Amino acid sequence: MTGIDVLVVGSGGREHALAIGLSKSDSVLSIHCTPGNAGTSMVATNHDVPDSDIEGIVNLAKDLGVSLVVVGPEAPLVNGLSDRLRQESIPSFGPHSEGALLEGSKTYAKAIMQSLGIPTGRFERIEEIDAIESTLDSFEHPWVIKRDVLAGGKGVTVTSSREEAIEALSDAIQIDGFVLIEEFLPGEEASVLVIMDESGYVMLPASQDHKRVGNYDEGPNTGGMGAYAPAPIVTPSVLARTREEIVEPMHHHLRNSNTPYRGCLYVGLMIDEDGAPSVVEFNVRLGDPEAQVTIPLFHTDLGLVLLSAAQGNLADVEVEFKKVHAATVVLASEGYPGDISTGREILGWDATIEEGQVLGFVHIAGAISKDSEGLTSSGGRVLSATGIAPTLAEALEASYQIIEGIDLEGSHYRKDIGFRALP
Ligand code: AMP
Ligand code: GLY
Repeated sequence: MTGIDVLVVGSGGREHALAIGLSKSDSVLSIHCTPGNAGTSMVATNHDVPDSDIEGIVNLAKDLGVSLVVVGPEAPLVNGLSDRLRQESIPSFGPHSEGALLEGSKTYAKAIMQSLGIPTGRFERIEEIDAIESTLDSFEHPWVIKRDVLAGGKGVTVTSSREEAIEALSDAIQIDGFVLIEEFLPGEEASVLVIMDESGYVMLPASQDHKRVGNYDEGPNTGGMGAYAPAPIVTPSVLARTREEIVEPMHHHLRNSNTPYRGCLYVGLMIDEDGAPSVVEFNVRLGDPEAQVTIPLFHTDLGLVLLSAAQGNLADVEVEFKKVHAATVVLASEGYPGDISTGREILGWDATIEEGQVLGFVHIAGAISKDSEGLTSSGGRVLSATGIAPTLAEALEASYQIIEGIDLEGSHYRKDIGFRALP
């Protein structure tokens, strides 16, 4: 194989992780990224088409003559990027717009789960302010209130305060015209990323994100403040139940739909104390920061896996993972997840660790190159420090060693990533 040219769409830490993974793939000759970030520019050629410009990306893919487009974020998928690429006979890793509705519309995702008997929380959709009080009475608190919009994990309120619940419900009805209220699922969360096409599927090692901004899960939800993989909460028995009760029926449904699903189905799980998994959410892409801790675990050539799924012949590839642990700790801008301060200089981001089997390095997310060397913050999640090691403890130690050496005014990170998995 002489190697293919690949275009990665997106600009976060996940896309930097994808670009690094592809750069280590024998099947890949060159990597392009649009719009990319300061990290992707180190392993790929960045282009300046934003991920909202669907026709611009299609034209870029045609001009570059790439054999594969890997779509990182959900918005271009919901907006039909993969549909358009396939019309041009360009293989795309990422579902068509109908498949992307699993993330684009929580109401749609719930309807599919109900029709397939997949375990998930009971929910109701409210459109009238007058219905708020009686609906709150029909659910136990804490109340889970979800705006049904793409909100990067930030459109959800979980609260036991009736006042706060009423405010969240009425705000959402005023903005969107409707809102969802959902049964609270107790337990521990985990993410199972499933790469699939009509020929088969591969479940990646389970990971665990940390969605709240503060230590020990205090404060508001974010896009994700750190992750590790494999996550021991997903025991062999939890994994088997997840496969049987969730992944198998979803794969059966998606492979038989009009246009097959080719990409990643992200299964956001809640695992109760008896080890029963329920679906908290589906996403139609790799998670961020879950990608930063699962892509480094690929033993099989990542380019080959993604191309095979994009072409519908994933079943022909035997996918293997390394027996190592990965952890990543996110460094966020001052104010995140609220109003953020950006445009600040970042120092110490280029530190690496390479000691025996322990590796440490930075995945860049919201940062741009200021001059030939310097980096400036440009987003809420600026970067994450990643460790890869024979044990989770060593992987976390490498992540924290790197992040402690990074200087960015006003920035913050969680000090407890991985706490649930450590003795
Ligand atoms: P979502 O955007 O649906 O992933 O929700 C964001 C976060 O809110 C999840 O990762 C959970 O931490 C929390 N959450 C959402 N739905 C529920 C639920 N039904 N029960 C408990 N926590 C939930
Ligand atoms: N880390 C959560 C997500 O990617 O949705």
